[in-house]
Amino acid sequence: MKYQLSPSILSADFGRLAEHCKATELGGADMLHIDVMDGHFVPNITIGPVILQGLEGKTSLPYDVHLMIENPDKYIENFVFENTEYITVHQEACIHLHRTVEYIKSFGVKAGVAINPATSLRTLDEILEYIDMVIIMTVNPGFGGQSFIESGLRKITELRKLIEKKGLDVAIEVDGGVKLNNAQRVLDAGANILVAGSAVFGKPDPKSETEQFMKILKEMK
Ligand code: DX5
Ligand code: ZN
Repeated sequence: MKYQLSPSILSADFGRLAEHCKATELGGADMLHIDVMDGHFVPNITIGPVILQGLEGKTSLPYDVHLMIENPDKYIENFVFENTEYITVHQEACIHLHRTVEYIKSFGVKAGVAINPATSLRTLDEILEYIDMVIIMTVNPGFGGQSFIESGLRKITELRKLIEKKGLDVAIEVDGGVKLNNAQRVLDAGANILVAGSAVFGKPDPKSETEQFMKILKEMK
């Protein structure tokens, strides 16, 4: 299994975005997590495609796009860039989830589905075999820097068991409140991709924070 770090640029200094993205790249990060919020699905407005246009050519890190928006089908195409590896939509925001997943894959991009802390794993039963990644939210989406919701650990373990039982190749990404001091527990529970916003970009030296996460991830291999 591939163990990866996807630092969330939500906590970055947007005046020095390209420079800070490069710093995590040099620190060994695997992807850049892009938190897109619309002020409807979540109570905050953040990043749009123009930010990714501005980053073009400035980083070779793949984009891990997390859409926290209503009607994601309307905007998915706008987030397909050369670097886009994953586009994830929320289960709670999609009435025709299977159609949306197939639409993401039609661009040659991997499809993810995220679930909020209060959403059951059972809502993924019928979609798991069609997707490349599940994001288990361990905070209520909307803001960086919130505390990790502990019941997420049980969900991660149950999901890993389910994926193994079904013999699928689906990544488990954990998003929200992941820090250097709980990363190991999250990985031991069964996650293989960590998102870290404030724990990387919220610190004075994102490169060194990335390196410390990478050390923990390497031990898992
Ligand atoms: C929360 C976002 C997260 C957030 C994580 O709504 O989806 O990706 O940026 O930030 P931290 O790591 O600070 O909890
Ligand atoms: Zn996110």
